[in-house]
Amino acid sequence: MLLVTTAAELRAHLDAVRRDGGRVGLVPTMGFLHDGHVSLMAASVADNDCTVVTIFVNPLQFAPTEDLAAYPRDLDRDRERCEEAGVDLVFAPSVEEMYPAPVQTTVTVDGITATMEGASRPTHFAGVATVVAKLFALAGPCRAYFGEKDFQQLAVVATMARDLSFPVEVVGCPIVREADGLALSSRNAYLTEEERAAAPVLHEALEAGAAAVRDGERDPEEVRALVAATIRAEPRAELDYVAVVDAGTLEPVDPLRGEVRLLAAARFGRARLLDNVGVSLPAGG
Ligand code: PAJ
Repeated sequence: MLLVTTAAELRAHLDAVRRDGGRVGLVPTMGFLHDGHVSLMAASVADNDCTVVTIFVNPLQFAPTEDLAAYPRDLDRDRERCEEAGVDLVFAPSVEEMYPAPVQTTVTVDGITATMEGASRPTHFAGVATVVAKLFALAGPCRAYFGEKDFQQLAVVATMARDLSFPVEVVGCPIVREADGLALSSRNAYLTEEERAAAPVLHEALEAGAAAVRDGERDPEEVRALVAATIRAEPRAELDYVAVVDAGTLEPVDPLRGEVRLLAAARFGRARLLDNVGVSLPAGG
């Protein structure tokens, strides 16, 4: 496995892979890799001839009040995890390498960024779309793997790739969870023992909402209220939002029908955690 830190090396290596007829798989991450990230690597290794994992804590997607400085980092451990997963190349650039000059050009995605994470973190998705556009531009034609864990981010990236004609096929991968349902996240490292014990309520609440839908509830507000009440019943959770939307458009759907997604965000101490679950209904409800 190769570790490269410059854009020029990344480009040269992936151009050579494609010249030899190889297919490239790209897995963008911010490091502190866990089994959720590893599942994206496994999907890419299965589908492609060369898998590249990018490890870059992107300052552009953190607001000044957020956890950029505290964000957990461990490049040695990350390299081991990539090696074990059969990754061919790790791209771990410095901030100066990614942003050599003050950034004057950013990518913003409208519409689907207006709600949920976009409403709670107004500059976040422009930061994500900009860095992912740069990674797509550097990587060139490839498949790129993103987790459904960040469901709105997956939609933002797919929309950006389509709107800007990147030669990239965006592939979504299912959420990897702990045995008690908590979605794996680098930010779980912030949880105290008590907060860790409380955090599965996020998934339990979403599952309770999904079960209500499967049992016939078709009023999105009833489902939203049930999920919100379940999270609020946990004193260590500070609810940010619950949304019940069409999985394709992320728009409200009333009455519920087709592919429905339930999403929530809540704070447990220092950690702001996200989760979501899907329910499939007949297109007619
Ligand atoms: P990061 O939080 O490191 O996540 C990298 C990728 O791993 C994302 O596509 C995310 O959805 C996926 N992922 C995280 N936890 C997962 C889990 N439990 N199951 C499945 N997939 C999971 O998301 C980012 O980094 C950044 O915003 C990035 C896209 C790299 C841009 O900076």
